[in-house]
Amino acid sequence: MTSESTAPSLFFRAGGQPFFDQLVGVFYEGISTDDLLAPLYPDFPDFEPAKHRLSLFLAQYWGGPTTYMEERGHPRLRMRHFPFHVGPLERDRWLLHMATAVERVCAGRADGAELADELMGYFVPAAEHLRNDTGLPITSAGYGKS
Ligand code: HEM
Repeated sequence: MTSESTAPSLFFRAGGQPFFDQLVGVFYEGISTDDLLAPLYPDFPDFEPAKHRLSLFLAQYWGGPTTYMEERGHPRLRMRHFPFHVGPLERDRWLLHMATAVERVCAGRADGAELADELMGYFVPAAEHLRNDTGLPITSAGYGKS
């Protein structure tokens, strides 16, 4: 038994689903103006379905309800990204939009810096992990270890 098992989830601490909806809303404002990434989205120029999926996925990942799983099944994120080229450029653009969104939604909160660190501490290695341009099954061997 560790303190981790009873610590409130980031989902709860951040403010629940509205926090993730806001984060994802700002993120897609950036994506929709990105000439490299925007056309990759299957429903482009409609980002509402993608917003819905990402927001539910993130809520579930951070300890919220498992609605994503109920709607989409197991995340299998690497598999779901195979249809799109994810190289260093795509990774960096994606992270830039996400970092902007994280900064915006965490601004002015007492716990903003801590929250931003936790969120980016997941997004940075996860985006690298989703690269599929190297021919290797998994790019980052140390994923999740630091
Ligand atoms: C931390 C990194 C990332 C996370 C957590 C993430 C998460 C997700 C999730 C949850 C979905 C929806 C999966 C589904 O249920 O079908 C998705 C779709 C998608 N992602 Fe990512 N992604 C990441 C990085 C990237 C990067 C670097 C790219 C750049 C090419 C990208 C491009 C896309 C596209 C084009 C879709 C299809 C839109 C959709 O079906 O929702 N993602 N991503």
